[in-house]
Amino acid sequence: MNPVGHNTNAHAELVKEGIDRINWVDRHSPVLNGLVRTAMRDGSLEGVKIAVVVHLEAKTAFLASILADAGADVIAAGSNPLTTNGSVVEALRDRGMIVVSEPDGNHESWEKELLAAADLEPEYIIDDGAELTMRIGMHRPEIFKKLKGVSEETTTGTARLYAMEAAGLLPFPALTANDARCKHLFDNRYGTGQTTVQAVLRLTNRKMAGAKVAIIGYGYVGRGIAEYAKKLGAQVFVAETDPVRALEAHFDGMFVGKSTDIVRDASIVITATGGMRALGRPEFEVLKHDAVLANAGHHDLEVDVDTLAEMAANVIENRAQISTYELGKRAIHVLSGGALVNIAGGSGHPVEIMDLTFAVQGLGAHHLVNTDLKPGVHVLPKHVDDQIAAAKLSSMGIHLEPPRPEQEDDFKDWLTGIQST
Ligand SMILES: NC(=O)c1ccc[n+]([C@@H]2O[C@H](COP(=O)([O-])OP(=O)(O)OC[C@H]3O[C@@H](n4cnc5c(N)ncnc54)[C@H](O)[C@@H]3O)[C@@H](O)[C@H]2O)c1
Repeated sequence: MNPVGHNTNAHAELVKEGIDRINWVDRHSPVLNGLVRTAMRDGSLEGVKIAVVVHLEAKTAFLASILADAGADVIAAGSNPLTTNGSVVEALRDRGMIVVSEPDGNHESWEKELLAAADLEPEYIIDDGAELTMRIGMHRPEIFKKLKGVSEETTTGTARLYAMEAAGLLPFPALTANDARCKHLFDNRYGTGQTTVQAVLRLTNRKMAGAKVAIIGYGYVGRGIAEYAKKLGAQVFVAETDPVRALEAHFDGMFVGKSTDIVRDASIVITATGGMRALGRPEFEVLKHDAVLANAGHHDLEVDVDTLAEMAANVIENRAQISTYELGKRAIHVLSGGALVNIAGGSGHPVEIMDLTFAVQGLGAHHLVNTDLKPGVHVLPKHVDDQIAAAKLSSMGIHLEPPRPEQEDDFKDWLTGIQST
């Protein structure tokens, strides 16, 4: 029996769909196909066992394929139960890769999938949210001790790795891909900004012009969403707990206030904090009728849907990926069950953005394998980040000029002068 049942034609079509999706990514990934493939041609990844645990859709599948093409022994798993694409899973299996995840899972099935990935004893992990790293640490201590390195995708996972390091519980080197400028400056801001707004509009068929949009959290992700919503004519309101970022939001022209104040009039509320329960009972009590709630942060617990369900008299599954909670005379709509709306309810980041993010991850894995790093959290060296940006610019026909001698600061003359007095 093939992996999706007895219908061979249906399976072949699914595989073809997955391959087509991955090939589309291939067409738009000049940095991965150039700089990254070239670096990996040194044979250092040959036979190295790497688990790729990122939202399992076509861009991730392409990264996994590039690692496999370089000779790595790749295990693929999804980093969220709701973001795994079935056609991509089958396309990867068709090329002989081990994929432990299935689409349309839930938290229970996902836990089992991640433990299955752990039991395959990866040496390195390209992780998202440190989801596999933490589970190996908690449930497979012997395998944890043998881990050689982790390259982490996102803000939430980075915070978790720093917390493990601070507690003296990180016995291997971990690279924070998220801290590379070629990752967070583009992926978190432009990628998530564009695709979150796109997904909310596509799922709801509502308008942005003139809408009151409340954003909880004004980091790279929140700022990106705010920018795209504003450009489409929305009035944007922001709640932040960090006073500097709240001030930045104010200077950027956003209305800033407490979450319970700014959500009152909002027709769309989007969370982007990276924490838990950014929207809970206090906000649910004041939301207006017909408000739409969506999440862009890593956890699918940023919108406390369990509490919303407790408060609701009734829950109706509406259009695809819209759950409507009836609270007295008010109806509150939650998109994609509170999972990352741009991935669970959209196509994920633009291909061009993931060409950068996965160049960071691919070169990060290559760096981990080839460098003798001490246990602890590390940032990708600046020159690698610079190479990625230069390769991207070059792929677009943009070439930079280094500063000419007469443009350099004369501080060296000053230093010589100071030393000689
Ligand atoms: N959806 C995606 O595709 C995608 C892409 C990249 C990152 N992420 C995730 O998005 C989240 C945010 O990432 P980021 O890079 O913007 O992080 P960040 O740390 O730069 O920003 C988060 C902001 O939220 C604020 N915050 C925290 N709790 C809050 C609360 N209860 N109320 C108001 N503000 C609060 C923090 O002060 C901070 O400024 C993370 O979970 C990250 O992993 C998602």
